[in-house]
Amino acid sequence: MKIGNLNISTPIFLAPMAGVTDYPFRVLCKEQGASVVYSEFVSAHGIIRENAKTWQMIEFTDFERPIGIQIFGDSPEVMSKAAQMVVDKFSPDILDINYGCPVPKVTKRGAGSAALRDLCLMDDITAAVVESVPKVPVTVKMRAGWDSNSIVIPEVGPRLEKLGVKAIALHPRTTKQSYAGEADWALIKELKKSTSIPVIGNGDIKTPDDVMRMFEATNCDGVMAGRSALGNPWFFKQANALYHGKTPPPSPSILEKILFCRRHFDHMIKWHGERIGTNLMRKHFGWYIRGFDGASPYRKALVCAPDKKSIDSILDSIQ
Ligand SMILES: Cc1cc2nc3c(=O)[nH]c(=O)nc-3n(C[C@H](O)[C@H](O)[C@H](O)COP(=O)(O)O)c2cc1C
Repeated sequence: MKIGNLNISTPIFLAPMAGVTDYPFRVLCKEQGASVVYSEFVSAHGIIRENAKTWQMIEFTDFERPIGIQIFGDSPEVMSKAAQMVVDKFSPDILDINYGCPVPKVTKRGAGSAALRDLCLMDDITAAVVESVPKVPVTVKMRAGWDSNSIVIPEVGPRLEKLGVKAIALHPRTTKQSYAGEADWALIKELKKSTSIPVIGNGDIKTPDDVMRMFEATNCDGVMAGRSALGNPWFFKQANALYHGKTPPPSPSILEKILFCRRHFDHMIKWHGERIGTNLMRKHFGWYIRGFDGASPYRKALVCAPDKKSIDSILDSIQ
């Protein structure tokens, strides 16, 4: 699969996830074989204001390449300026536009999936961003429409292609649906038929087998997984093995999972500092420490533990 000039040999992507896909998580998924990783979505307004926290969300290391930085915003001018600033300062491999966020705080301002209600705005933002970063492939991640009466697939496929977009990732739920119901993979297939740029299917990939099922059912060029990687970065190793016709390695034992969790925690503290890193890690503990007898008390203790020392001793006590 190619996105612009970027060659992707195993097209299994880590989905952008706000509050999750920071450096520590991306690096673990990358190690485990995620071919392309994305930043969390980053506000274009925050970027052009040079907000320090916003800039920190964009920082990445060469190990993570190829990486996409995802931006969101409501105005073509602000989005194009932000895209240019990101490319000038960080040189990501992909600049991704978010047309999928269903959160009212974002859509009320006309950003994220609000563009699905106004395809002229989508055209204007997309054209402005593509024009502002001619050397970097611009991709789009979107939902299927605002609600079930206004599905924009397949109409947007040729439209975005004509504007110079180099790939589309589709999470085929509507904004109104949020996460309810099922992702409608038939829409991924429809989008793929409508355009010659690569289509990355997303939504409800729960197991490595689902990756292969999605390739077969939709004819998509790449598959993007989000929630299945939470507390489970080795998902990518297993999915990659299947993709290459090999037997997937077994899931790690509890003790191996704890080792993973510790490394994740170490990265968190190095990247974010002890206080913030510890706080941000709590939800990950909830995701790692599950699926074995007696997990629940450990999970509860980890989520409430006040500091690194107490977290380390809880992790030590898991046998
Ligand atoms: C915690 C969380 C945060 C998310 N943040 C983003 C985001 O910043 N940008 C984006 O495009 N999608 C975001 N998403 C949506 C995912 O990228 C993905 O489209 C969705 O979870 C469906 O894929 P899945 O079924 O594999 O999880 C987020 C999802 C979750 C669960």
